Amino acid sequence: MEKKLNRKEFFKEGAKYAAGVSAGLMGIQLLGTKEALADTKYTWPLPYTPLDPEAVRILGHDSFWGGYACAYGAFNAIIEALRNAIGAPYTELPTEIMIYGHGGGVGWGTICGALNGASAAISLVCTKPDTDILVNELIGWYTQTLFPSDISNQYAVNHTFTVNNYDQVLPQNESGSPLCHVSVSEWCQHANYKVHDLERKERCARLAGDVAAYAVQILNDHYNGQFTPTYVPPASIATCLACHGQSMLDNVGAKMECMQCHGDPHQTAIGDIPQPIPAHFTVKQNYPNPFNPSTTIEFTLPRSQPVTLEIYNLNGQHIKTLINHKGLSAGNHRIQWDGKDRFGKPVSSGMYYYRVKAGKFNQTKTMMLVR
Ligand code: HEC
Ligand code: HEC
Repeated sequence: MEKKLNRKEFFKEGAKYAAGVSAGLMGIQLLGTKEALADTKYTWPLPYTPLDPEAVRILGHDSFWGGYACAYGAFNAIIEALRNAIGAPYTELPTEIMIYGHGGGVGWGTICGALNGASAAISLVCTKPDTDILVNELIGWYTQTLFPSDISNQYAVNHTFTVNNYDQVLPQNESGSPLCHVSVSEWCQHANYKVHDLERKERCARLAGDVAAYAVQILNDHYNGQFTPTYVPPASIATCLACHGQSMLDNVGAKMECMQCHGDPHQTAIGDIPQPIPAHFTVKQNYPNPFNPSTTIEFTLPRSQPVTLEIYNLNGQHIKTLINHKGLSAGNHRIQWDGKDRFGKPVSSGMYYYRVKAGKFNQTKTMMLVR
């Protein structure tokens, strides 16, 4: 009889046999593989052991550059760490299974590949109820996190990564969406790079590391019985789902920010003041002003369009994004700023700029915080 292949050899040699060396031989090899499978003690969910999130962050970044990009990068990072910690069955698992996920599915821009890859790793080691909870946290966290993280920016500058194609700090954005398209396009807009620039690829490499690291962090907490979800969905989604969710119309099954694509078709969302549609784009003076600790900014849109509202200090340093390229309806809108920066830290007394961008319009005004 021919030599039997173990699983790993079969995966490696499979293509050769499939190419039709011998149909009979192929049958024998498959039989051998089945026996080998029957011998293994592993059943799903596969074993897990706490991993070092920082080692995984570096692996995620470096795996991205291995040639198969984000989904592979995030998945491979976690599996590689499990290979090192546990060995089989992870040594037998071809992480190339995630290749398709790059660019949100071979460039279709649907779910972020890094989320896809890290979520696949979670599903491999958790039951369905646990997967649902952990992946929900991962996706929710992603929509509210600035990428690339300060840590991975710093790793790049310090050459902590083993692949150093670009070693400068990259601009950060929070996309409010798990979609590759939204995340990447908003970053390109914000950072002023093109999708095919090296800097954008490096941004996604760092993001793949960041997402894999967070997945491992929550897997570790879960393993240690210490996991508590931190993601709180924006109130605007609950507003829409109060009617469109299961308890009423039951015609929408989604947890994404509705307003980002739909605006507010019924003028229901918090902060909207139903009024006649204005003819021009206007940004009003904030009130109260001077203020402490919070103030309200009001603006009007002549038609529904994506809006960005950002706060800067007098040196032009970005303090916080209050509205991030969100589709808003025509009419009046108002939003509060609580005098805190994007890390939740109260900012000091002084003059601040707020800039509202809507389509090709933008307007900047100043305001005064007195503590
Ligand atoms: C008070 C209940 C209620 C709330 C809150 C609500 N909707 Fe609706 N929505 C409806 C009803 C009723 C319809 C019509 C349904 C139908 O025709 O089947 C509708 C229709 C829609 C439609 C279909 C197209 C259109 O423009 O009419 C969209 C899109 C929509 N809603 C999005 C949203 C979004 C986004 C939000 C949150 C900002 C939201 N809805 C909040 C009740 C609500
Ligand atoms: C990524 C963009 C996007 C997001 C986010 C999104 N939708 Fe949609 N939604 C669409 C598109 C595109 C359609 C199909 C549009 C059409 O048929 O006119 C649609 C269809 C709908 C419809 C049926 C429209 C109709 O004409 O009857 C409703 C209702 C709806 N969405 C509500 C919601 C709610 C509520 C949320 C938040 C939980 C949401 N959507 C999130 C893009 C989005």
